[in-house]
This record gives sequence, C-alpha cells and structure tokens, in this order.
Amino acid sequence: MSTSAVGTLRLPARIHVGEGSRAQLPTLLAGYGRRALALVDPYVAGTPLFAELLGALRGAGLEVRVSTDVQPELPAASLDASGDLARAYAPDVILAVGGGSVLDAAKLVALLAAHGGPLNRYYGENAVPGPVTPVVAVPTTAGTGSEVTPVAVVSDPDRELKVGISSLYLVPAAAVVDSELALGAPAGVTAHSGIDALVHVVESYTAAPLSPPWDGVLPVFTGRNVFSDTIALEAAGRLARWLPVAVRDPQHREARANLAYGSLLGGMSFGATGTHLSHALQYPVGALTHTPHGLGTGLLLPYVLEAIRGEQETDRRLAELGAALGSSAPSTAGRVDDAISAIVRINGEIGLPGSLADLGVTADQLSRIAELGLASARLVAIAPVPVTHGLLLGILERAHVGALRERSTR
Ligand SMILES: NC(=O)c1ccc[n+]([C@@H]2O[C@H](COP(=O)([O-])OP(=O)(O)OC[C@H]3O[C@@H](n4cnc5c(N)ncnc54)[C@H](O)[C@@H]3O)[C@@H](O)[C@H]2O)c1
Ligand SMILES: [Fe+2]
Repeated sequence: MSTSAVGTLRLPARIHVGEGSRAQLPTLLAGYGRRALALVDPYVAGTPLFAELLGALRGAGLEVRVSTDVQPELPAASLDASGDLARAYAPDVILAVGGGSVLDAAKLVALLAAHGGPLNRYYGENAVPGPVTPVVAVPTTAGTGSEVTPVAVVSDPDRELKVGISSLYLVPAAAVVDSELALGAPAGVTAHSGIDALVHVVESYTAAPLSPPWDGVLPVFTGRNVFSDTIALEAAGRLARWLPVAVRDPQHREARANLAYGSLLGGMSFGATGTHLSHALQYPVGALTHTPHGLGTGLLLPYVLEAIRGEQETDRRLAELGAALGSSAPSTAGRVDDAISAIVRINGEIGLPGSLADLGVTADQLSRIAELGLASARLVAIAPVPVTHGLLLGILERAHVGALRERSTR
C-alpha cells in the first residue's frame, strides 16, 4: 500500500446530517440574506412536511418564492428560462429540496443567476468564471450526493448524451441531509437512487491515482484521494446493508438514516475523485433506453469490476470493499469475488433488471455504446486500467447477457 498522502477535498462550508436537521434551515438561510428562491421537487412540494418547512421559513421573516418547474432530464433550454427568472428575482440564496434532478437544477440556476446564460457556455470542466449564488441543498432521495458535489448533469438536444458542468464553484454552500425527507419514498426511487450511491463509493475507491498539477489549474476530479479512501469504505458497508431494507420497508427510519448518511459520504468521496466506467457506459445506455441513472450504473458495476480486477493495488482495494460488504474469504481473490457477488446480490434484492437485454438493448447496439463510453474522456481517465473500445465492449457483452446473474443466489 502506498504511504504517500495526496488529496484534494472541496466541500460545502456547512454540512448537517441527521433526522430533524431541517430545523436548522431558517437560521441557516437567514445567514445569506432575506430573499430565497426555493426550487422544490413537484412531489415533495405537495407534502405536509414541506408545507411545515415553508411555514417555518416564512415565520422566520424570509421571503421565499417557490418554483417546482424542474423538468425530467433537465433540458438545458428549461434551465436557461429558469435562470432568467432567477436573475430577475435576484435571490440572496437558492434553497433546493428534492432528488438529484432538483439539486443539479438549483446549482445551474445559481450559476445562471450569477453569470447569465446560455448554459452551454459552461459545459465541461472549469468553465464557470467565479462564485455563484449560494445554494443550500436538501436532498429528498439518498443517492446522488449532489448536495456536496461540484457537478450537475443536463440534457441538450444538440448532444447525443447528457452533458456535465463541473466546477468547484458548483459545490453547494451548505447541505442539510435529513433522512426523514425520504421516509416512505417508493421502492423504485429508493432502489435506483440508493444503488447509484454504492456505485459512487466503489468507483471512487477504485479511481486511478492521478498526479495533480499543483502549480496549475487543478482538474475538478483529481483521482484516488487520501480523504476519499477513508470516506468511501465507511459508506460502502452502510449502503450495502441498509439499501435492501429500505426498498423492502420504505418506512424504516434506521435504514433511511444510514442511506442518507452513506449517500452523503458517497458524494463527499466521488466529488473529489470522480467516477469511472459504470458512469461512462450508463450515459449512452440511459440515452438509448430512457432508464434511470442508478438502474444503469448499478447493473453495470459488477461487470466493470470484473474488467478492472487483476492489478495488485486495484485488487487490494476491491478486497477491502469485499470485506466492507461482509466477505471473510481468506484470500484477496476470494474477497474480490465476494465484492462482485455482493453487488450482484444487492441488485437482485432491490429489483434491478439482470441484464442490458432486459432493458431493451440489442446486441448490435453494444459497439456504438462502447464508442460513446470511450468518448467520455473525463470518466475514462479516472478508470484504474487503460481503457480501449475492446475493454468496454467486453463489459457490455457480459452485462448484455447478464453473465453474473447466477451469482446473486450464492
Ligand atoms: N450532481 C451529481 O453529483 C449527480 C450524481 C449522480 C446523479 N446525478 C443526477 O441526478 C439525477 C437523478 O437523481 P435522483 O436519483 O435523486 O432522482 P430524481 O431527482 O430524478 O427523482 C426521481 C423521482 O423521485 C421523486 N422523488 C424525489 N424525492 C422523493 C421522496 N422523498 N419521496 C417520493 N418521491 C420522491 C421525484 O419526484 C421523481 O419522480 C439524474 O439526473 C442524474 O444525472 C447527479
Ligand atoms: Fe451516479
């Protein structure tokens, strides 16, 4: 194991986690000013819990304008329109209450409110010119970790795939992670968002060691990282243990609390390192099949792990993940096998489809998916192995037939 300590961590200035922590919001928001724009998930906006929160904010003297205009897949044009409205309202702070879609939308509205559009000026890495309107992020799903990450993902009809905007300026000013907000969420939402958190943790822990250019502009995602190494392992066991419980029993408070914390840790971890091949391949798979982000990353992850195993340090890391997921196999290879099997088993328990064919992907589409995956240069660079079209095609062919499916019963 390397003894060198190299890392970068960029996080919100405040993070609160715990059931009931939303009670901090009136004081927290007032610290930024009096005018708040609240971007709220349309489902969540109709719940008594949100009505109560809004009452508390207004009761504390805040002027809050609520918008639920967050469209699925975040089309760039819809965000440009929201950005214009936000610029006119000139909020002191943007409150985001929702899943990853709402949190990502809020980061981009904050960017547009501060610097103007169109959004496509900022596509890619490090194109945001400076600080944005402060965002206070309150997740209502346990999954994306977007409440602490420097990235937001949008769709654009001019692009075949969804496109990321990443900048350290997109890290929210504060995150309030209150697991009660996800209590009762349906099994599908819980499964698809929760498995993505586990993918973030595993891909972050197995990220490539990049050499940061300390004397230049740092990339947003800096590869394997001393901070993430600790954070990711802590999250893996909690997510693996509690995700199936929350899917089975949506009202399970302890499961929700562990998932909320695990997903927050996942964001803290991958927000620094980046993610790699399950994400590179999910973007084209998602574009083709219109299936949720986490469904694709979760399904692909075991096949990605099969493909990256073999190098000593990666195997050591996969074995540690295996142990965090419950393996007590005596050998490294046995623990790596167990890590892969555990993820296949969790996927089965939470009802994910077992193969890309089940999603409607056909064999003749695999080569094009691999091509598009390879073109995600930022994600491919974070993989711990050299990535070729052949490597990606191999992953996709195994995932297409669900070659690991039988491991779910071991
Ligand atoms: N910025 C990042 O770091 C990052 C990381 C991963 C994914 N993402 C993005 O996040 C998005 C996915 O986010 P998501 O998985 O949180 O889903 P989501 O925000 O798209 O929400 C999915 C569904 O769940 C519902 N929902 C939200 N909270 C609920 C609750 N408490 N109870 C019941 N229903 C609820 C929503 O109304 C919606 O119908 C994708 O667009 C993906 O690209 C961003
Ligand atoms: Fe993800």
